[in-house]
Amino acid sequence: MKLFNVYPIYDVTPVRAEGVYVYDDQDTRYLDLYGGHAVISIGHSHPHYVKSVQDQLEKIGFYSNAIQNPIQQELATAIGTQSCLNEYQLFLCSSGAEAIENALKMASFHTGKKRVLAFNGAFHGRTSAAVAVTDNEKITAPLNQQQDVCFLPFNDTAALEQELQKGDVCAVIFEPIQGVGGLDMPTEAFVLEMERLCQQYQACLIADEVQSGFSRSGTFFAFQNTFIKPHIVTMAKGMGNGFPVGGILIHPDLKAEYGLLGTTFGGNHLACRAALAVLDVLEQEKLQEHAQKMAVYFNEKAQNIPQAKVKGRGLMLGLEFDFEVGPLRRRLIEEKKIFTGGSSNKKVLRILPPLTVQPQHFDTFFNALHDLL
Ligand SMILES: Cc1ncc(COP(=O)(O)O)c(C=O)c1O
Repeated sequence: MKLFNVYPIYDVTPVRAEGVYVYDDQDTRYLDLYGGHAVISIGHSHPHYVKSVQDQLEKIGFYSNAIQNPIQQELATAIGTQSCLNEYQLFLCSSGAEAIENALKMASFHTGKKRVLAFNGAFHGRTSAAVAVTDNEKITAPLNQQQDVCFLPFNDTAALEQELQKGDVCAVIFEPIQGVGGLDMPTEAFVLEMERLCQQYQACLIADEVQSGFSRSGTFFAFQNTFIKPHIVTMAKGMGNGFPVGGILIHPDLKAEYGLLGTTFGGNHLACRAALAVLDVLEQEKLQEHAQKMAVYFNEKAQNIPQAKVKGRGLMLGLEFDFEVGPLRRRLIEEKKIFTGGSSNKKVLRILPPLTVQPQHFDTFFNALHDLL
């Protein structure tokens, strides 16, 4: 049987990984500045993570959500404490798109409305409602076009209010730092306006933190750079450091009644243990603060590459060039053994390393860029 291709594939076959390095089947070492689409947060094969998941697997890996699973509460308490969002409820699922589906569904249940406002350049996933609020026609099937969605530019308060005034909007969904789109961010003033207008017109504000959450941006969630309290926060990727786990946080203002959401795999024992291990390491190794410091270092080094403009925050970064970066990205992998990411803005090279990255790793990257440019 042939495999269905998901992405164009580089000719590299990773077989093991440690920290910020990935090793292929020839034992060639690659510097991982992409974290497999921003998934690796605490570093590959972190010993505490490996031990926690192994120990849990030896006890019990999975049972349905119809039994008591105290590890779920342990996880909710730890996320609440580390994010300072204790008042929210946690719903657990298994991927980013599933988190988005449930966030939109919850917003629609709560408001009784169905239209969604999203933003130009947005990426929220590939399932039904998630792809409908994603700004990419190529991956939106006719079936997905049944959803009622309007795309707006960031930072246009008048356009946002004009749409909200129609009274039919259940949710405004935004990425505090756009990932796939190429590291664009709304201004702080606009984020505050979104919160105010959502309150005024009874729509839910959804912060999509699937990529930016779990300390990648230098705050636990990227929206916490501004003083807002979204109605719903989505998360996945770095939450499990490779284990498929996601979730949504639901503000106490929402009528999140029992039975509205559900899942078979979400919140299983292994997934919760993996996410708890991630939280332990984020705290013990102070990786949030480290992400801030490393971003400063990255910005300083980037000054020596005048062709490039730095975008993003914390360790969710991009370098925007005045040319398309596809060939450069390929040469970084093939000649310099460095993984970086692309984006739908073809001029942006994405840098999403494990949060344990050190200055010498960025030195290696910038030396490689010097050689190749
Ligand atoms: C911001 C954002 N939301 C949602 C998703 C979808 O996540 P998943 O691929 O786990 O379904 C992604 C994936 O890249 C993302 O970047």
